[in-house]
Amino acid sequence: MRVNPVGSLKGELTLPGDKSITHRAIILGALADGVSEITGALQSDDCRHTAKALSMMGAAVEELGGDRLQIRGGGLHGLKEPEEVLDLGNSGTTMRLLAGVLAAQPFFSVLTGDQYLRARPMARVAVPLRSMGATILGREDGKFPPLAIMGTRLKAIDYVSPIASAQVKSAILLAGLFTEGETTLTEPSLSRDHTERMFEAVGLPIYRNGLSLRVAGIKRIPAFQVAIPGDFSAAAFFIVAALVIPGSELTLRGVGVNPTRTGLLDALQSMGAEIELSERRVISGEPVADLFVRSQTLHGTEVAGTLIPRMLDEIPIFAVAAALAEGATTIRNATELRVKEVDRLAALTKELRRFGVQIEERPDGLVLQGNSSLSGCHCDSWGDHRMAMALAVAGLAARGSTTISDSSCVSSSFPDFWTRLDAILPGAAVPLA
Ligand code: S3P
Repeated sequence: MRVNPVGSLKGELTLPGDKSITHRAIILGALADGVSEITGALQSDDCRHTAKALSMMGAAVEELGGDRLQIRGGGLHGLKEPEEVLDLGNSGTTMRLLAGVLAAQPFFSVLTGDQYLRARPMARVAVPLRSMGATILGREDGKFPPLAIMGTRLKAIDYVSPIASAQVKSAILLAGLFTEGETTLTEPSLSRDHTERMFEAVGLPIYRNGLSLRVAGIKRIPAFQVAIPGDFSAAAFFIVAALVIPGSELTLRGVGVNPTRTGLLDALQSMGAEIELSERRVISGEPVADLFVRSQTLHGTEVAGTLIPRMLDEIPIFAVAAALAEGATTIRNATELRVKEVDRLAALTKELRRFGVQIEERPDGLVLQGNSSLSGCHCDSWGDHRMAMALAVAGLAARGSTTISDSSCVSSSFPDFWTRLDAILPGAAVPLA
């Protein structure tokens, strides 16, 4: 893809549905009794992998057109042994959340994915699920996919997770729905809480006490209807683009603003940004708002600690904002970035240097020296959707045009990113043959 700096962003946009919430709605719909309906669903490669895997186990997931999905679930114990290996593509969320469900099924399943997913750590779910009684094998003693799972009647556990990971938390909470007693899970700091909110929205009991959660085995999940808000992580690229491209004034409608996801807003605020939130409302238990962003001068900042899990997926686009701010920005306590779709600390260091950014890679983060001028270049997404979209924003703010290779990976989370970008900024995104 060629990205051209063609001027300011004006007007308004709505974003595709939230990826994390769509995965959870599909999984719960497949375990519910009868027909559930999801509106605002994200229809991207990752979510389709969740739907396909559950279809291979007997649930019927149908795209009704637009952003509606209908799921005919066979009930809590209705899944059937898949005849084939479940190929989950690039989707870490699918693999880790389904591992929690499959650990409780009276059958055998094998989960694999693309070269990136097969390099992602799975011991973080295999270890607690084994302690609940499931047999989980994988490469290097269960550290990497493919994973082979023989489910069983699970025992409830008290698990203290060493990492603030919503995927780990959700795998255990989903497994906990199938146990006899009560399962508790404590995390070191709050990761995104969509699973908890969706349990509440569809009427499943879940108790929160600080950083601890408690669920008990249930008998059934009644069919439900949920609406999914716009994905804050998709909005993030446009928020930063509008902030750093002079003359921009952009409204983003219906964006999920769950506080466990909006750490980027806090980080940008600490850089001097003012972003207006209006029309606050709650959709299916999730806070939603319209966002208004205009271009502003940003200054360097430091992000660390409990803010990191709240802006985990936004570090690539945040690094672009930092590269264009005045002064230095430090990102600390972000080692989890090394085990995302790719090692995002290494990828950002290498790719942002091509734009002329002064950036230092640290074991747990980055130090960037802000500079208002980036130079267009040829760069590579590393096959990572969020890298591709962050680099596109760098390209929009650079002098001269930028080419991004391996740009089609945006289909994991935001299939029409390039067409949306080109619609709001005609000429900004030109596919290369
Ligand atoms: C996700 C959780 C996050 C995030 C990922 C989606 C989820 O990973 O990076 O893109 O839907 O639960 P963690 O498990 O590291 O929190």
